[in-house]
Amino acid sequence: MSDLLFSTVPEHVAIIMDGNGRWASARGLPRTMGHRKGVEAVRETVRAAGDVGIKYLTLFAFSSENWRRPETEVTDLLGLLKAFIRRDLAELHRQNVRIRVIGDRNNLRSDILPLLIEAEETTRANTALTLVIAFNYGSRDEIGRAVISLAKDVEAGRLRAQDITPALIDARLDTAGIPDPDLIIRTSGEERLSNFLLWQAAYSEFMFMPDYWPDFSRDLFLSALERYAARDRRFGGLSVKPAAAVGS
Ligand code: FPP
Repeated sequence: MSDLLFSTVPEHVAIIMDGNGRWASARGLPRTMGHRKGVEAVRETVRAAGDVGIKYLTLFAFSSENWRRPETEVTDLLGLLKAFIRRDLAELHRQNVRIRVIGDRNNLRSDILPLLIEAEETTRANTALTLVIAFNYGSRDEIGRAVISLAKDVEAGRLRAQDITPALIDARLDTAGIPDPDLIIRTSGEERLSNFLLWQAAYSEFMFMPDYWPDFSRDLFLSALERYAARDRRFGGLSVKPAAAVGS
């Protein structure tokens, strides 16, 4: 790994873990097996993120649209998430990982909500990597809930409409207090955001990788970070890197 990677480690990486189903189908296996293998890739990725000094890692575990999948698959995905928290929480806590959950918590099933809260409470004071799990998450839903909360304050006379700023909107999102993602990775070759962090992605770098999520590995992650380090981020301003000569 070149020095470049370690000179520019992104503070926040967010990942759309796509391709579990196709990984399984390509092997003649049920989709479930893809999700299972996907959890192993999650473990490897969390460990690698901590090792290289990333401060925030957001994983899109279950979208607010995923409820439309067949009931057996929904049950399986929820089962895997619950098993991950039950089995890995102690180890994550030992690694000083803090867990945050983003997404709509209203009307969540009673077998999942207490587990998510327990994971957050147990790890609240940890200071290494923050693992942000997007569960029952959809960006438009998140923005809609933030708008309702601001509108209620205006209605009650606690806030003037003209005082609403991007920072105030930020503070009402599920991601309040979490810096915007520097890098968003999507696996499986699809090139879209799929209602993930729409507001927060304003200046994110995007990386679309052909590999299916179950094949994601420490090496693939490190190579993505290396490519990220070579990118020129301008945030609407001018380049801070020297311009390359024309034709070079
Ligand atoms: C996309 O693959 C993946 C998901 C919808 C869920 C990702 C969930 C996990 C990896 C397991 C649980 C998560 C954690 C954090 C422990 P897909 O099924 O859409 O694949 P396809 O597009 O090939 O059908």
